[in-house]
Amino acid sequence: MAVRENTIWERFLSPVVRLFINEEELQRYAKSVDWEKQSDRFRRADVTIPTYYSSQNFHGIKGGYLNSGAAVTYDAVTQYVLPPNETWVRQALIDAIKVVPQRIIDLGCGTGSTTLMLKQTFPDAEVIGLDLSPYMLVRASHKAESAGLHIHWRHGNAEDTRLPDNSFDLVTATLLFHETPVAISEAILREAFRLLRVGGQVLVLDGNQKTLRQIEWLNNVFEEPYIREYANGSVDAWMGAAGFAGVQTQDVWWTNQVTSGIKPISTTGETVQTMQHDTPTSADSILDNNDLQGFPSPAFDTTA
Ligand SMILES: C[S@@+](CC[C@H](N)C(=O)[O-])C[C@H]1O[C@@H](n2cnc3c(N)ncnc32)[C@H](O)[C@@H]1O
Repeated sequence: MAVRENTIWERFLSPVVRLFINEEELQRYAKSVDWEKQSDRFRRADVTIPTYYSSQNFHGIKGGYLNSGAAVTYDAVTQYVLPPNETWVRQALIDAIKVVPQRIIDLGCGTGSTTLMLKQTFPDAEVIGLDLSPYMLVRASHKAESAGLHIHWRHGNAEDTRLPDNSFDLVTATLLFHETPVAISEAILREAFRLLRVGGQVLVLDGNQKTLRQIEWLNNVFEEPYIREYANGSVDAWMGAAGFAGVQTQDVWWTNQVTSGIKPISTTGETVQTMQHDTPTSADSILDNNDLQGFPSPAFDTTA
C-alpha cells in the first residue's frame, strides 16, 4: 500500500506540535544511545514483521515504528493527542482492572507508558511489555530503568506471541487497535483469549469509536492508515467474537474508550485445573522456555 503524502499532519499539525516539543533535548537523548546495538538486545530472529506494519507512516513518522526516530519522538507527540491529559486517559485502563493480577502482558506496549503504570499499580506482578519494534522497546526499557521498575520487554507480534496458553491474568492493549487493520485486531483478541487463564481480563484502551464516526475529519488528522476501519468497527463485537464474556465499553472523556472482557469458564471442562495455585514459575522462565506449568491462577479483587 502506498504511503500517503501531504496529509493534514504533515502540512499543519506536525509543525504546530514541534513548537511545543523540546527538540534539542530529544536530539541529545537520540544521540546518546547506540540504537542499533541496544535494539539488538531485544531483536528476535523469529519475529516476522507484517506488511500492514512496515508499509505505513504512523503519526507522521516515515517508515512507521521501525526506526529510532519513532521511539524518540513518540512520547513527546502523544502527550498532545490524548486530551484532556495523557495520564488521566491511561489511568482509565488501570481503573477498569477487576482482577488482582500476578502476571500481566501489555501488547503493543510501545515506549511502555501504560506498562510502567501497570507495574506501579501491581508492584508484585510480573509485567511483560511486547512490541514489534525493538526501538520502542529500547525507549521503554530506559523509562523503566529511570523509574526503578523491573519489567520484561519482549520483541514479538501481538497476533502470535509464542507464549504459552493460560499464562496471564491480565492482557492489555493501549492505543494499538486504531493502528491495525480490523482483521489484525480480531486476531490479537483471539491471541489474548488464548494467553489468559479462565477468569482473566482483557482491557483495550483506544480512540472512542462513536466519536471518531461522528467527526470524520479527525480521521485525516493524525495520519493513521487504519483509523477509518477502526472507527467503523466495534471493539465490543470483536471481543465477543473472540469468546470473551461480560464485554463492556466505557467512554473515557469523549476522545477515548476502554473495553473490558473476561475469559469465561469454558464449556469444554478446561476450567477447574486452571484455578489451582501451585508453585509460581517466573516470567524469565516462560519467556525463555515457554514453560508455564504451575503458574497460579488469577486472583479476583472481590472489592472491585
Ligand atoms: C500507538 S503505539 C501505542 C504504544 C503504547 N501502547 C501506548 O499506549 O503509548 C502502537 C504500538 O503498537 C505496536 N504494534 C503495532 N502492531 C503490533 C503488533 N501486531 N504486535 C505488537 N506490537 C504492535 C507498534 O510498534 C507501536 O509501538
